[in-house]
Amino acid sequence: MIVIGSDHGGLNLKTALKSYLARREIQVTDAGTDNDISVDYPAFGLKVAEMVASGSIERGILICGTGIGMSIAANKIPGIRAALVTDVFMARMAKEHNNANILVLGGRVLDEQKACDLVGAWLDASFEGGRHQGRLDMVSEIEKKYCK
Ligand code: RB5
Repeated sequence: MIVIGSDHGGLNLKTALKSYLARREIQVTDAGTDNDISVDYPAFGLKVAEMVASGSIERGILICGTGIGMSIAANKIPGIRAALVTDVFMARMAKEHNNANILVLGGRVLDEQKACDLVGAWLDASFEGGRHQGRLDMVSEIEKKYCK
């Protein structure tokens, strides 16, 4: 199960990715937005990030115009590792090295095929653990120090 959310700038890509995930027989929860009326990306970033951080859904995808706002917002929620990616290598590394639990994409940056390739690379990769887990533990310590 994946939760996917966007603002108006990511709506078209969200629709395309829902079809892609359906073709892969992956269940999707759509957290909105549902139309092209201008909305505020932090509201949707928060909604998806809270669902992932609570453990109710294992991972999420967020899309805004550039992906920048969504990644800034989602990474404020403790436990979230949101990775903004623009190529397949980054998408694979986001899982292998960073164990990203949210993938962030730019709807005004990527075409549909590229976005599907990025999501596929992230989904098909596995976290390598080891020294990378140690580094993520350090990130968690930073979170504990500053997120009170
Ligand atoms: C909305 O126009 C745009 O600012 C938003 O989609 C996103 O790109 C913000 O980072």
